[in-house]
Amino acid sequence: MFPPLNESTAFMNNVKISPSVLAADLSCLGDEITRAVEGGCDDIHIDIMDGHFVPNLSFGPRIVETIRKMTDLPLDVHLMVDNPLNMIAPFADAGSDYLTVHVEVADDVSHILGKISEYRVRPGISLRPDTPVEAVVDYLDLVDIVLIMSVYPGFGGQAFIEESYNRIRKVAEASSDLASLPLVSVDGGVDVDNALLLVRAGADHLVAGTAIFKDHGAVENIRRMREAIKM
Ligand code: DX5
Ligand code: ZN
Repeated sequence: MFPPLNESTAFMNNVKISPSVLAADLSCLGDEITRAVEGGCDDIHIDIMDGHFVPNLSFGPRIVETIRKMTDLPLDVHLMVDNPLNMIAPFADAGSDYLTVHVEVADDVSHILGKISEYRVRPGISLRPDTPVEAVVDYLDLVDIVLIMSVYPGFGGQAFIEESYNRIRKVAEASSDLASLPLVSVDGGVDVDNALLLVRAGADHLVAGTAIFKDHGAVENIRRMREAIKM
């Protein structure tokens, strides 16, 4: 016997909410992660920036190692770096579950994705807002996540780029025939107001920093986002 549908299960979908720790208050990182978990997030997004691929620096493997000790949720590590190949071993050893690299870093990134898989980490591919969607299509069957940047990578708190809806639609369509569907993720300017539109466009993984961690309000902010994407 299946349990009867009630109001919440009837509207459940598989969309994942992924708080980006770039916007967390690092002076109380443990509390921030606890609040995000309590709010019901599905994984934790960690942005790695090298000051070359993007004009900013953020974290190294140590923060992944630190957060690994705080939660069993998957750690979704976004490598905004020119040389991801050198970083696979340290970030895999630190406890990453997903390692996402940018398609712009090499003419062919398949060997990088292959190397990530060798470390038993799930590979992902990402693209900047001005890179044509076609650039990732050939990699879709090699990845577990495709991360569509909806702001120029490097900083949190930027305004969502509206053209991203079309790009999500194209990626979702291109991956719909694959035997194993990658998560279609969107990252940058995601909030409670655009979340449902993003899901309708085909996203099933929402990365949000500011919208989730603002005012130490992760518990409530995640619940509100979950409510907003009920369909
Ligand atoms: C930007 C990062 C994002 C960022 C999102 O380069 O990849 O993950 O933290 O932050 P918000 O949600 O504030 O736009
Ligand atoms: Zn990110």
